[in-house]
Amino acid sequence: MDAQWRAPPSYHWPMTRVFSGIQPSGALHVGNYLGALRQWAVDQHDADCFYCVVDLHGLTTDHEPAELRRRTLETAIGLLASGLDPDVCTIFVQSHVHEHSELAWLLECTATIGELRRMTQFKDKSAGLESVRAGLMTYPVLMAADIVLYDTDRVPVGDDQRQHIELTRDLAVRFNSRYGATFVVPEPSIPTVGARVMDLQHPERKMSKSVDSPLGTVNVLDSPDEIAQKVRKAVTDTSAKMAYDPDAQPGLANLIELLAASTSRTIDDIVATYPNYGSLKADVVEALTEVLRPVKARHEELRGDPSAIAQLLEKGAAKASSVASVTLRRAQQAIGLLPPGVI
Ligand code: AMP
Ligand code: TRP
Repeated sequence: MDAQWRAPPSYHWPMTRVFSGIQPSGALHVGNYLGALRQWAVDQHDADCFYCVVDLHGLTTDHEPAELRRRTLETAIGLLASGLDPDVCTIFVQSHVHEHSELAWLLECTATIGELRRMTQFKDKSAGLESVRAGLMTYPVLMAADIVLYDTDRVPVGDDQRQHIELTRDLAVRFNSRYGATFVVPEPSIPTVGARVMDLQHPERKMSKSVDSPLGTVNVLDSPDEIAQKVRKAVTDTSAKMAYDPDAQPGLANLIELLAASTSRTIDDIVATYPNYGSLKADVVEALTEVLRPVKARHEELRGDPSAIAQLLEKGAAKASSVASVTLRRAQQAIGLLPPGVI
């Protein structure tokens, strides 16, 4: 069935609705920034945007409670530092809006175990574990709930989330065709460069907050010296051939992409410009330092006032809930739950 079939119109027309989420799993890295956050900051001026720190998703793997709280606040500060303006878009914490967990249950009763087991991220994260939390498998269903609660048209994410957005679309279409037009079917929006920033030490895997690779991960708050040290030590290859070939020369391709994503230069131009890897690395260091400079400066200002952050998150949650509660009621009604006090 065509995914758009039976999808209701956007309930907030004519403004495009954008939603995205980020896990509170630690310091933001350049993959987060170039692959997602920078786009979020652009989108906020053209669309009605909701951005969420997904702390409930943070419960799907081992965590330390006090640390989760600290990281949730730290991630919210990271969003603001990346240029999100709480007067222009809605920034909130997932667990502050109870509709997320409630809608997730309705969608769990729409999804099948087979399709959840097939998710690449589930397979990767559960591989080798003796016991796997049920929440790790239902993770993408909660993510689908996050998205459809806001009648979302577009979801800006990095490439690693493509399959989850596909599942969200499948669940929305299935729910709509079983119970009547309820959810808007969202589209992913994935940047052309920077969508998949790779680990500098292991360029065959993506840069990630959850993998312990201190030299392979450039954090948004790294000092210029730390950036220089990590980029200079980045793994390349011995061929010394300047070409963009992610399969044969993944380390070099990653450096070329990092430079393209942090400047407005094209990959072809970069390949044609540099005589050797050393000169390319020097410019990657400079470009990353420049692109991260304003983010670091804003972070420095914001971290001094956590109670102001807490207040704006509370305001964000109230705004989010006013939208989410309407969608949840529509879904409850469609699926056949008896409204309280109504016979
Ligand atoms: P996460 O930190 O996994 O919650 O990811 C937050 C956002 O950053 C999502 O949109 C991801 O797709 C994006 N992202 C995470 N890691 C990378 C990466 N290495 N390259 C590009 N985008 C990424
Ligand atoms: N799964 C996403 C990630 O790891 C985070 C996320 C949760 C998300 N809910 C979302 C992203 C809704 C976009 C939309 O990056």
